[in-house]
Amino acid sequence: MPACNTVKSYHFNYDPSCFEREDERPDSIFYQKPRFVQHLDDNALRVVEHIIGTLIIEQTPRILDLMASWDSHIPDSIKPEFVVGLGLNEEELRANPKLNQYLIQDINENPLLPFQDNFFDVVLNVVSVDYITRPLEIFSEVGRVLKPGGLFLVIFSNRYFPPKAIRIWKEMTEEERVLLVADYFSMSGSFEEPSFFVSKGKRRPLEDKYAHLNIASDPVYAVYAEKIGGNPNRPRRPEVTDPDVVLPEIDLSLREMKEWVARNRVCPYCGEKLKKWLVPLTPFTEWNTDHFYICFNDNCPYFIRGWMAMLKQGNLGFSYRFRFNPEGGGIDAMPVPHPNAYRESIVEEED
Ligand SMILES: C[S@@+](CC[C@H](N)C(=O)[O-])C[C@H]1O[C@@H](n2cnc3c(N)ncnc32)[C@H](O)[C@@H]1O
Repeated sequence: MPACNTVKSYHFNYDPSCFEREDERPDSIFYQKPRFVQHLDDNALRVVEHIIGTLIIEQTPRILDLMASWDSHIPDSIKPEFVVGLGLNEEELRANPKLNQYLIQDINENPLLPFQDNFFDVVLNVVSVDYITRPLEIFSEVGRVLKPGGLFLVIFSNRYFPPKAIRIWKEMTEEERVLLVADYFSMSGSFEEPSFFVSKGKRRPLEDKYAHLNIASDPVYAVYAEKIGGNPNRPRRPEVTDPDVVLPEIDLSLREMKEWVARNRVCPYCGEKLKKWLVPLTPFTEWNTDHFYICFNDNCPYFIRGWMAMLKQGNLGFSYRFRFNPEGGGIDAMPVPHPNAYRESIVEEED
């Protein structure tokens, strides 16, 4: 059998061990005890609500929250006809203010959803797809209960309960997981081509319990698609943009921008002072300068939207930072694999 994490033009070769977990006892045992916790930090939760609020465009949608708990992350701007939550812990579901109705069902044991065909406008699955052991059956069932043109929105991050996550999920990089979920969509045969959204590299809120570790906020990934067969004249769902990213209004020509950066040593996208950065010695690349000026602001819109731009170009797991070369005045983008990369070469300068 081929390894379960080989990518073959966006299709994975699955063998049954891909969906095994450390804890193979019934899921109802693990979820017996209610967990009234949030699984993501506040920044990431805001992004989750923003994605849901952007993509649900129906006036009074019927929503199924699949693998629900006490918070469905549905913003108040959405006015559902009703929301049904399906999960495993009754106390959590009872405490969820958005639910009109809930039911307890182990979908790994019984993936058949107890709803009629073409019933819901939207199915949400938030930070839970990594626990699904029968994804193809469940994605097909979601396809069955959605109306044509209805939305299946799967949102996840990089945190999970290790004993209950499937093996393939734990072996993959974060970006491979995007492809895995996209593959679930396409293998079910029920959906249009899935779209992706990623929000990554934000600063952790100061009050967060991990803020002192200087690690970025929890990343948020969304993979979503509409059920095939929707009315071709239906309104289109808008593209999701990062809620914190205000695109800069730069009217400068490229030449003017270079001159402005050379004069001010400031990032034209966020206004933060550029850091002097020493070029590391390497036998492979020769630069015409021994230092650059680079924007290391993790909240810079250029950097934040770079994760998405790079993903769209097939450069998984990278963003880029704005870079200025003082020798010759060129500007370009420096690829970076994570928010803390290459910081060791920053030289602190006097203001
Ligand atoms: C990490 S929590 C996420 C809860 C919620 N969607 C949220 O965004 O906070 C995972 C949820 O999936 C549910 N779940 C796990 N395994 C399940 C299964 N086999 N069938 C149905 N629900 C399940 C649990 O009840 C739990 O509430």
